Amino acid sequence: MPSNVIVGLQWGDEGKGKITDFLSKNFDYVIRYQGGNNSGHSIHINKNRFILHLIPSGVIYSNVECIIGPGVVIDPKCLIEEIKNLESMGVNTSKIFIAKRAHLIMPYHKLLDIYKEEYLGKNFIGTTHCGIGPAYEDKISRTGIRILDLIDKKSFYKKLKYNVKFKNKIFQKIYNKPSISIDSIYDEYMNYSKILSDKFVNAVRKIHTAFSNNKKILFEGAQATLLDIDYGTYPYVTTSSSTTGGVCIGTGIPPNFINNSFGIAKSYCTRVGNGPFPTEINNKIISNIIRDSGNEYGSTTKRPRRCGWLDLVSLKYSCMINGINYLIITKLDVLNNLDSINVCIQYKFNKKTIDYFPCNIESYNNIECVWKKFPCWKQNITNIRDYDSLPNNCKNYINYIENYLKLKIILISVGSERNQNIIKNKSLFYKIFCS
Ligand code: GDP
Ligand code: IMO
Ligand code: MG
Repeated sequence: MPSNVIVGLQWGDEGKGKITDFLSKNFDYVIRYQGGNNSGHSIHINKNRFILHLIPSGVIYSNVECIIGPGVVIDPKCLIEEIKNLESMGVNTSKIFIAKRAHLIMPYHKLLDIYKEEYLGKNFIGTTHCGIGPAYEDKISRTGIRILDLIDKKSFYKKLKYNVKFKNKIFQKIYNKPSISIDSIYDEYMNYSKILSDKFVNAVRKIHTAFSNNKKILFEGAQATLLDIDYGTYPYVTTSSSTTGGVCIGTGIPPNFINNSFGIAKSYCTRVGNGPFPTEINNKIISNIIRDSGNEYGSTTKRPRRCGWLDLVSLKYSCMINGINYLIITKLDVLNNLDSINVCIQYKFNKKTIDYFPCNIESYNNIECVWKKFPCWKQNITNIRDYDSLPNNCKNYINYIENYLKLKIILISVGSERNQNIIKNKSLFYKIFCS
């Protein structure tokens, strides 16, 4: 049975939550494969506003099984709050499952995240301070504590003791900060274990059984390609594999189990935190218009997002890295009232024009964008549901993106509400999702 992946093509916040929720009615399983509660995936259904950090965006449908996969790092405190919040809004949370192999975010990870950022001074990354980086560091250094360790109290205590002793040395000797005590953390995490343990599963078995039973499976990416630890704008990235390659690593499925990869991009571009952003708009008036009409404030940290024009050079790179089959474009309505739109079609670097994404971020200090200008449509498109009814200027913009990337756009989002979508290629859409 085919499985599908939704992956962000820019620097995050492309609308993965909205689109995953919209598509979820056609799936039996929605699975997160990497990242942690650094994600903020928003879903708007009538007056209900959901922001999901760890729970897959299929959860609003009570029949969809939602798995937080082995590649995710889990802050149990955050997860419990999220579950309670969903329950208070009437959402059934009985089909949320947590991979036993997933690593835990511990209180010392959050402190290390904050102290390291302070230590970096002006070179700070601009992390979400959720402890994501330090938790993945421990995973790679083979000292991490996993969900399954919560079940065995003795083993949990032993691992915690080693880690607290080690981290206290770092706190005191490197950061000149107070040490932390093991007992309060132990009690806190044993309590989390009691609350969550019904949801612990062998996710690899569960996912492979679902494949054997021909279930429909959607993998939901978090962060995005340009924040990927290997292929993003390193070091200004997150610490997981947020590309489609991360699906196999983060869930234990082989590459040939993935059929379609859907790349999702905004009709412009945003970035939160530090790091290169070639198409960033320096004109405050225009960037403020986009920020306000697109509500470009972090779902997790509430930070204002940096705003820029669509960057087709980086988008082409992201499509290549992820093996994208179809594109989804979101937030087209945000451009409704601008006079004109710019799109970056090449970079100028060392007096040469290039159409690839350089690997050395120092190059970005010397990159200039080659722009193509489009007239805007000056019309509210949020109520349009049929592609042919879009204004011509809007269709020209969409066509240009398709031609440049040599990929078909299958879905266009024109508002934050669940139903504010235009299915561009209906027969293809129904064939992929509804057959
Ligand atoms: P994610 O992290 O990729 O899930 O994206 P976020 O939820 O962090 O950010 C996307 C924001 O844009 C959220 O506030 C969504 O409600 C909103 N949004 C999603 N699609 C659209 C759209 O087509 N138009 C508008 N105006 N807002 C959208
Ligand atoms: P979603 O899933 C946007 C950014 C942070 C920072 C960098 C490293 O909502 O698209 P981290 O806390 O991960 O160590 O921070 O990555 N970042 C995101 N930016 N959307 C996200 O997730 C992000 N998750 C992390 O702002 O620049
Ligand atoms: Mg987000």
